[in-house]
Amino acid sequence: MIFPHLKFSYFSGKNVHIGVSGSIAAYKALDLCRDFIHTDIKVSVTLTLAAQEFLKPLSFSALGADPVYTDMFSPKNTPFAHLEPAHFSDVFLIAPATANTIAKLAHGFANDLLSCQALAFQKKIIIAPAMNPGLWRARPTQENVAVLKERGVEIILPKTGKVACGDEGEGKLAPIEDIYFYTLKALSPQDMKNKNVLVTLGPTREFWDPVRFISNGSSGKMGSAVAVAAWLRGAKVVCVKGPCDVWLPSDIEVCEVVSASQMYEKCIELWRWCDIGCMCAAVSDFSPSQKSSKKIKKGDLSSISLVLEKTPDILLNLGKRKRDEQILIGFAAETEDNFIELAKEKLEKKNLDYIVANKVNMAGAGFETDTNSVTVIDKEGHYSTFPIDTKANIALKIWDLVLQK
Ligand code: PMT
Repeated sequence: MIFPHLKFSYFSGKNVHIGVSGSIAAYKALDLCRDFIHTDIKVSVTLTLAAQEFLKPLSFSALGADPVYTDMFSPKNTPFAHLEPAHFSDVFLIAPATANTIAKLAHGFANDLLSCQALAFQKKIIIAPAMNPGLWRARPTQENVAVLKERGVEIILPKTGKVACGDEGEGKLAPIEDIYFYTLKALSPQDMKNKNVLVTLGPTREFWDPVRFISNGSSGKMGSAVAVAAWLRGAKVVCVKGPCDVWLPSDIEVCEVVSASQMYEKCIELWRWCDIGCMCAAVSDFSPSQKSSKKIKKGDLSSISLVLEKTPDILLNLGKRKRDEQILIGFAAETEDNFIELAKEKLEKKNLDYIVANKVNMAGAGFETDTNSVTVIDKEGHYSTFPIDTKANIALKIWDLVLQK
């Protein structure tokens, strides 16, 4: 099931054609089909004869795929079934793609319905190979993959692991979420291509003994939505991520940090290479000035006094180093009614181009939720308020605003 905070409605009404070839991984195409349909993307499917040994066309129809094609000369087909995906679909995804199907595509064969439909398809084709590691490593397969890549076909590389027959190696179908989001990328405008984007996300942890720390409830969902939305639009994204468990595509470089000072060091190092920085992390403002090297015992309570010191202000320091062509976006987590005024003060003090004012005590907004509502303020004082929506949709709207300038 696709993560609820990463539900983008931009793709609603788009058409994806899924080709399924005969691999034990074919059953995973059902999850893919369901995920597309649950996010309002229309799905049509073609199963090769080999795929039908593993799965029934009815399974896809029951999930809402329409049409579901089987063979070239099925009486259920219209006379032009071999051309329909080319006319009606926005992207052609083959998952799983076997060595045989890849070979047919590379050499332009059209001797079954799937290969013929793919040959006629002039828009983006994506393949997610799955096969025994020996078949994947075989020189003809690698040469065929190289030919397809050269032709502009997107290859979602298989993963390494134990495959069905017990062999170990590269050949496992890539995770469904990778295939899903790579397909969305093919459906996105690439208007952030050539942009290097730095995103911070999650909380930081400030330890006062080896097992106890000061932190907050940031889940990293908002930051991951901002990062994924920029990546979908073609940006090269690097994330500096505090301790949290959120999905990010493997194309996004992730630098894991724990404390505010580690996040500071990493951001300062990366900022000079970036065009845009968007700081979504909930960085701890304070850190214990003394840390015990041993776990403090309950009996020691009378001797404990927690003295705090300020952590480095990452955003302020990026703002000081900002070059004219760089764009810096801060988030402001506020709880007061005058949250917009408070956020504006941060925008001015930290030399930002935008601040995203987030009233975190509003129902459905802020920490840990899948949804958010924010007001974005630019340095000229223009306001844009985005009512409650998924964090993914809010992130896309923030980027729309930034790209408008
Ligand atoms: O992660 P989620 O559960 O999805 O929740 C999302 C969120 C509520 C964390 C997010 O939307 C949000 O509001 N992030 C900012 C949290 C925050 O620390 O706000 P602040 O007002 O304290 O800080 C202002 C800005 O300065 C932020 O961009 C923050 O990253 C940055 N900062 C803060 C302290 C510090 N020492 N260095 C910083 O750079």
